Amino acid sequence: MEIDFWKQRWQENQIGFHLDEVNPLLVKYHSALNLPRGSHVFVPMCGKSLDLLWLQRAGHYVTGIECSELAIQSFFTEHKLPVKHLPDPVLHSYRSDEIHLLHGDFFDLPSSMLADVAAVYDRAALIALPEAMRKRYVAKLIELLPQDAVMLLITLTYNQSTMSGPPFSVSETEVRDLYGKCYEIRLLQQTNILPEQPRFAQRGLESLLETVYLLQPK
Ligand SMILES: C[S@@+](CC[C@H](N)C(=O)[O-])C[C@H]1O[C@@H](n2cnc3c(N)ncnc32)[C@H](O)[C@@H]1O
Repeated sequence: MEIDFWKQRWQENQIGFHLDEVNPLLVKYHSALNLPRGSHVFVPMCGKSLDLLWLQRAGHYVTGIECSELAIQSFFTEHKLPVKHLPDPVLHSYRSDEIHLLHGDFFDLPSSMLADVAAVYDRAALIALPEAMRKRYVAKLIELLPQDAVMLLITLTYNQSTMSGPPFSVSETEVRDLYGKCYEIRLLQQTNILPEQPRFAQRGLESLLETVYLLQPK
């Protein structure tokens, strides 16, 4: 799951993960994060998600990181947002009002970027990565985040031997192993979404659980 793999997917428009609507789970559970207006939300591996706009309209300052420049440019173009591009040797920066998207590798993020982040919204970031990378991802995230940051995490769980990822299957046990040392983990909702996802049924899955967790620092 190297960066080139994702860049190619964006080039070929193979972006089945992208939703043409705001994620209803974000709308439903945003209030569980208990965030004041004006707080800073970090969206790792953000793609061109409409959730970025929704978070901004909910009163947040939003920072996303995404390795595909095409995804970032499409986000601003599709929403007709004026954008300022600030080149940087490591992470190019695209800004439009309260939305700040960084073009580059999540693993290159400097700690200063997230120093005042109040919450993380992870939809399809953790599950985009194979197991060994997930460990690195969580270690890096915990290292970068202030200790009081909360998180809304959305995962998928299915029989990994039936289908190869991405998206990868991440079980509740793994979420607890990865985050349990630093966070209280509350499972907010778990739904079998296979009936609405025929492309996964075609790949042989018998169930596809979408789970929403709220992570609060211990
Ligand atoms: C499954 S998609 C989810 C996108 C978005 N969160 C959404 O809900 O639509 C994963 C995204 O992560 C990006 N990505 C993968 N590895 C990355 C990395 N190391 N650094 C930054 N972005 C990455 C991919 O280009 C892709 O857009």
